[in-house]
Amino acid sequence: MLELMGEWKRSNFCGELGKKHVDRSVTLMGWVQSRRDHGGVIFVDLRDKEGLCQIVFNPEHDPKIHQTAEQLRDEWVIAVKGKVTPRTKETVNPNLKTGGIEVVAEQVRILNTSKVIPFLIENEVNADELLRLKYRYLDLRRPPMRDNMIFRHKVAAAVRSYLNENGFLEIETPYFTKSTPEGARDFLVPSRLNEGQFYALPQSPQTLKQTLMISGFDRYYQIVKCFRDEDLRADRQPEFTQIDMEMSFVSEDDVISTVEGMIKTVLRETKGIEVSTPFLRMPYEEAMERYGTDCPDTRFGLELKDISSIFKDSQFKVFRGALEKGGAIKALNLKGGAEKLTRKEIDDLTEYAVSLGAKGLAWIRVGEDGWNSPIVKFLSEGECGLLAETLSMEKGDIVFFGADSVDMVNQVMSNVRLRLGEILSLVNEEKLEFLWVVDFPLLKYSPKDKRYVAVHHPFTAPKDEDVEKIENSPGDAASKSYDIVLNGVEIGGGSIRIHRKDIQQKVFDIIGIGEDEAREKFGFLLEALEFGAPPHGGIALGLDRILMLLSGEESIRDVIAFPKTQKGSCPLTEAPSEVSPEQLLEAGISSIVRKSED
Ligand code: AMO
Ligand code: AMP
Repeated sequence: MLELMGEWKRSNFCGELGKKHVDRSVTLMGWVQSRRDHGGVIFVDLRDKEGLCQIVFNPEHDPKIHQTAEQLRDEWVIAVKGKVTPRTKETVNPNLKTGGIEVVAEQVRILNTSKVIPFLIENEVNADELLRLKYRYLDLRRPPMRDNMIFRHKVAAAVRSYLNENGFLEIETPYFTKSTPEGARDFLVPSRLNEGQFYALPQSPQTLKQTLMISGFDRYYQIVKCFRDEDLRADRQPEFTQIDMEMSFVSEDDVISTVEGMIKTVLRETKGIEVSTPFLRMPYEEAMERYGTDCPDTRFGLELKDISSIFKDSQFKVFRGALEKGGAIKALNLKGGAEKLTRKEIDDLTEYAVSLGAKGLAWIRVGEDGWNSPIVKFLSEGECGLLAETLSMEKGDIVFFGADSVDMVNQVMSNVRLRLGEILSLVNEEKLEFLWVVDFPLLKYSPKDKRYVAVHHPFTAPKDEDVEKIENSPGDAASKSYDIVLNGVEIGGGSIRIHRKDIQQKVFDIIGIGEDEAREKFGFLLEALEFGAPPHGGIALGLDRILMLLSGEESIRDVIAFPKTQKGSCPLTEAPSEVSPEQLLEAGISSIVRKSED
């Protein structure tokens, strides 16, 4: 039954055929999407990379090829020679790109069969994601996944072309390298030739791209894999791709406008979307104050308001207690929301807040007959008056409150805000809202580590006027760093770097990286800084996250051909897996495997 392709050559893709091909003889090759038997006449939807096309096998035309067509099953691979014919008015399919024509088969060859597929190759799939990942090659046949991969390619190509035209050189940096300081755990690779020693896979090319600036390449980029061993989420993978850039003799504005130009061009070329630049810039402090997060979704309002000052001497223990411990109280007023939320939705929201670490979620509903709330009985008249005024509370509103440490309040209330946005559909999903968050602090005190840590990474430069503060009041120094946020997701971050060894050393000192440790970890960069390092800065954009947002996907796994599960495994290849004792021996490592108790 199976035949070879032989001398047959494909003339066209199925999905590209249209009216202009009518009367042409074509040779198509692809997969059987479906076969329908209409009283003798068999219709096959044939699929390839470009889409579907209907093939007609008419028994009156040629009984032999009709017999072959009767055997066809879903996902078999066939080659067909035939003539492109216009469909009659009644049979035109307006839902199909090629729906105005069909190909009347004259010859057919079955090139391969297929086992019964575990899920249908259709736009919507109701298979479990694990099954989709195990049969990823089939999942990638589905049009939305195919389109995501093609889109990924187009975006990467447009990025390359923009950067090439703007004087950037694409230079590869090694994957077998030393630990890079991005704050996650490293993936380690044992070195057989240097027993007992390990390479670290790069969390980013940070140190080497800076070194390339010292070499004088002026503008570098790379679309590069980065590796981070951290807990995974919908927008995090252990290996992911950055559009990584570095530029010499530049200011923050230069990097920002280069990225804006790139995003504008890429969106125009790949999606036909015009975004206006420059993007809005918001200082970090303002973002935290108004939204409780450094990556706010500014597509809707519902801003947070710090109302701590009202409750300094309050009788309400929950609020006063938080303030006494140095915390804060923040509120958000959902205007006109009192009737839009059911009691169950309010309780669910409270449960959600608690799951994020909150001790509760207080609320006040402004009803027809006054305030309805579990906390109002604890509040004084004066407090109520100030609340109403500060939050512009009116009939029909509902206000939510968080009281805790500043970090916890921000974390909880920013997420409550997002959840409300979701429940009440406050977000215009069509909108693309880019935002720069700027002026991050350089350092922040970590109670856990009992020392200052770098907010971005330790190579980020302080603002010129804040260099002195590194030693005098480290927490007050602002940095020359910037994050770019799209629809509330951090899609990139970067900074102007420290290019002088004395300042770099000061930062290392304050974050507790001693001279020995600094030399051991990044000695090469510190030494390079002493050989004429130019002022430089750059940024890295998370390509997978950008694609996820532009394709409207919920997870970055859907824009990656072969992603890992939340547990870091690949159901297709079954990586990671155990290795043989011989391999371990050769790599010079021993492994203690804890067997699960089952
Ligand atoms: P940063 O650590 O902010 O900066 O990373 C830059 C961007 O990479 C994306 N990203 C990720 N995407 C998917 N999965 C992950 N696990 C993951 N981690 C990060 C995010 C993020 O904004 N070297 C610096 C950049 C610089 O200073 O030039 C860096 O890596 O979109
Ligand atoms: P309680 O007195 O603990 O029953 O709390 C009264 C109300 O305040 C309830 O609606 C709680 O959800 C809410 N609440 C308790 N602790 C906090 C907190 N830390 N922040 C905000 N609301 C809280």
